[in-house]
Amino acid sequence: MNNTTDLTDSVLELIKLHQNTKGALLPLLHAVQEKIGFIPPHSVADIASGLNLSRAEVHGVISYYHFFRSEPAGRHVIQVCRAESCQACGAEELMALAEKTLGIKTHHTTLNGEVTLEPVYCLGLCASSPAVQVDDKLHARVTVDKFKSLLSKIGGRP
Ligand code: FES
Repeated sequence: MNNTTDLTDSVLELIKLHQNTKGALLPLLHAVQEKIGFIPPHSVADIASGLNLSRAEVHGVISYYHFFRSEPAGRHVIQVCRAESCQACGAEELMALAEKTLGIKTHHTTLNGEVTLEPVYCLGLCASSPAVQVDDKLHARVTVDKFKSLLSKIGGRP
């Protein structure tokens, strides 16, 4: 789904479903991202008006939570955990490797639309840090070599 009208219709539908619920903003944003993969920037005004909030409030929440995307993700999404336990166990090195290998910074997608690189703040595998998620699959105790192998499998150039 990438036609602007379709996207708008989908968001408006979800707004209707959530607008009479207290504290609807976060559930609505999650629903939008789950349905269309990101929060279209042009929908911020509709969301704000539907929930009787200011655009700044909606924008503030979208930008505060790293989870929300403002543009479509690539075919694959790599998430490197940057929370405390993983930081202490080499997550920065993994993120640097991913940025170098893919030629992009975090929160960006490769030019060919294949891979999006994102930070994430705890994948629930703290006892097996550092952790990485590639699409829907979690990977624990990720070494540099293991990560190079994961990157090469999804099209990165280790
Ligand atoms: S801190 Fe990385 S999985 Fe919890």
